Amino acid sequence: MKTIIEPFRIKSVEPIRMTTREERERLLKAAGYNLFKLHSDDVIIDLLTDSGTSAMSSAQWGAVMTGDESYAGAPSYYRFEAAVKDLMDFRHIIPAHQGRAAEHLLFTLIAKKGDLIPSNTHFDTTRGNIEAMGAEALDLPIAEGRVPSLDHPFKGNMDLAALERVLKENGGQIPAVMMTITNNAGGGQPVSLANIRGAAALAKAHGKPFYIDGCRFAENAWFIKLREEGQMDRPIKDIVRDCFAVADGMTMSAKKDAFANIGGWLALNDDALAERARTLLIQTEGFPTYGGLAGRDLDAIAQGLKEIIDEDYLRYRVRTNSYIAERLDALGVPVVKPAGGHAVFIDARAFLPHIPPLQYPGQALTCAMYEAGGIRACEIGTVMFGRKPDGTEAPGAMDLVRLAMPRRVYTQSHADYVVEVLEEVAGMKDQLRGMRIVKEPPMMRHFTAEFAKL
Ligand code: F0G
Repeated sequence: MKTIIEPFRIKSVEPIRMTTREERERLLKAAGYNLFKLHSDDVIIDLLTDSGTSAMSSAQWGAVMTGDESYAGAPSYYRFEAAVKDLMDFRHIIPAHQGRAAEHLLFTLIAKKGDLIPSNTHFDTTRGNIEAMGAEALDLPIAEGRVPSLDHPFKGNMDLAALERVLKENGGQIPAVMMTITNNAGGGQPVSLANIRGAAALAKAHGKPFYIDGCRFAENAWFIKLREEGQMDRPIKDIVRDCFAVADGMTMSAKKDAFANIGGWLALNDDALAERARTLLIQTEGFPTYGGLAGRDLDAIAQGLKEIIDEDYLRYRVRTNSYIAERLDALGVPVVKPAGGHAVFIDARAFLPHIPPLQYPGQALTCAMYEAGGIRACEIGTVMFGRKPDGTEAPGAMDLVRLAMPRRVYTQSHADYVVEVLEEVAGMKDQLRGMRIVKEPPMMRHFTAEFAKL
């Protein structure tokens, strides 16, 4: 059959509250034109993030009921640990309440002032945790990864020549090498198995541990299966295991590729480091067999990890994004190519060339999408990255708008609706105006800043 259907039936539903354009214009104005400030029940299609927004399966809800809430040694932990080890066979699996808590544990222990931590591209919380230690988070994506319109099968790859150079020149400052799969900041773009192995080999040759931020490991493995030579006939599980086999540890947000609403973990092979991490965990998160989570969360993750590697799911998952991207492309809406694993990115700077970067074309587009159809997306551009620590302002590297797809939540007709709303916005794009910031905090301004239309 030609149509890739949602490989699930819906047993439990959440109603969507419909709103009118007039209502939305009023609500958005009252929210200071910042979509983070909207009440989510005023949103028709919420594409703000794919994190923690997954629909859990009936098997996961069943597992929730078997959660054991003992303070120490709960069977829930051992089911969680076994499910993680089945895919990523690290010696120590340390639960944490979400991904950034795992990052905090790792970088508190391994990074110090003056250090340098190279990656394909660090996610913002990873960067934040590295910078909080006084270290530098160094992004080394391949050149193709920086060009939105360029098609490349593994646009998330790391520039291995640049990694080798920095390991040779600054080796003394480097406590570890990191790889993010898929590369979220770079558009949900995958990293090839060859690139993962190449980076791991370079790290090893220089005596450095190699860590993977594995948030979207299953989507990454699906792209490897589809696009990398010799991988087509291999089970997803084998590909996943190969990716992690070359690493010394990982950080994970179970809010992504584990279908959970909360949770994460730090995995390590180094016994001494794991002991220090568990000590810090007790201080900040909780006892090592629950790490800031309820037993029922651990069981939801354990079951989610079994479901996430299902090929019918991954086929549908990735196809949803490429379907939207292809249709937007046909409408002349510039999208990052090829579509990523968890999101479609629109190049707002190219779409609205009459709005200069310092008038926030990405923010203008997210506001227009909400007003036109109640869609909530996220600006990833000058609002997010334009403010420098000294308070000055410069254009971000790109002005993108991310439409992140919650897992198993929306259907084909929701995808068609998203395209239709963007068609309407495209028809009036020349009338869209830039924005100015009327109020902003000194850091992380995109969450709370308020805007006005110019
Ligand atoms: N690493 C990556 C690649 C991520 O995308 C995220 C979260 C984290 C780490 C942190 O995990 O949220 O559980 O603490 N990304 C979300 C997003 C917030 O919308 O992309 P967390």
